[in-house]
Amino acid sequence: MFNVQFLIHMKKTILVTGGLGFIGSHTVVELIQSGYTPVILDDLSNSSLKVLDGIEEITRVRPIFYTKNVLDTLAVEQILKEHNIDAVIHFAAFKAVGESVEKPLEYYHNNVGGLISLLNAMKKTGVQKLVFSSSCTVYGQPEKLPVTENSPVLKAESPYGNTKKMCEEILYDISKTGQDKTISLRYFNPVGAHPSSIIGELPLGIPNNLVPFITQTTAGWREQLTVFGNDYNTPDGTCIRDYIHVVDLALAHVKALEYLDKTDLNYDVFNIGTGKGSTVLEAIKAFEETTSQKLNFKIGNRRAGDIEKVWADCTKANTVLGWQAKFDIKQMMLDAWNWQKRLEK
Ligand code: UD1
Repeated sequence: MFNVQFLIHMKKTILVTGGLGFIGSHTVVELIQSGYTPVILDDLSNSSLKVLDGIEEITRVRPIFYTKNVLDTLAVEQILKEHNIDAVIHFAAFKAVGESVEKPLEYYHNNVGGLISLLNAMKKTGVQKLVFSSSCTVYGQPEKLPVTENSPVLKAESPYGNTKKMCEEILYDISKTGQDKTISLRYFNPVGAHPSSIIGELPLGIPNNLVPFITQTTAGWREQLTVFGNDYNTPDGTCIRDYIHVVDLALAHVKALEYLDKTDLNYDVFNIGTGKGSTVLEAIKAFEETTSQKLNFKIGNRRAGDIEKVWADCTKANTVLGWQAKFDIKQMMLDAWNWQKRLEK
């Protein structure tokens, strides 16, 4: 049975760059289920065609897919024209903080250059609406918590973080010309997997992020998790983050597209988190309790560049976008674990 929302969005075609990545693929699923037609562009540098099969298995729709890099402006232009694209959701970017310190040029080229290439293609073809993947990394260590969209944007701790900050600034400047309409979504810590366990996060090599490291250690792929420091100024000494279920995050993009259709503003920014911070030890406890698994972990040294604590004030997204996170950390951990178990098979 189609709902009203489905009928309203029907036929609108959305280009999703990086649409086979972790957040991109979950967003493609929610777009289809809300009545949009996504077209995916992904260079497969950190994803696989199997994800397209997964999207098809969940939705019974196989989106049109192009193996292209967003730096290929002409290819993007052609896709925008050929499919009469209404709006773009731009995920395609490198995202490993540590790697960005070793390869800053690659990060600026791919992330900043990629956005400029996309914007040029959009300008040429008259596509004006864009949702951009930003990050809470732009706040650095905020003085006041929770952080609102008005909290100061600080100097980035890594080239990765700087690419997000620079991209936001570029989008803001361009919005002043009055031609484009853009929303930047500042994600907090996306985790979990689709409840069907058909798509999820699959980092190449050793994961940098906490939740894949937890699930891979429990599955025996890694020996032990190291908790990076327990001497922070937090209730149990470990860092605090605002973990958000990737399906909730995906739905925020659907809401952002709806908002782009009605707002008069040319640029806006939203925090996308749950509003609730969890320490690393609390995250581990939630995992153990919900999955009945025991995690092998030890306390180690602090990781360079880590922020002590950050969590979101999501009032703006709640009231303006009409979006709210629904899943709690236990559900995030359960879905992440079920996805890991499916990978085993
Ligand atoms: C970082 C970025 C974020 C980016 C994300 C994607 C910053 C401040 N944050 O998030 O913008 O979107 O990566 O890659 O740049 N931890 C351990 N042991 C581990 C792994 C992590 O204890 O093996 C801890 C970390 O110290 C941290 C928490 O778990 O406190 C979450 O870490 P992680 O999942 O790597 O995400 P962030 O560093 O918060």
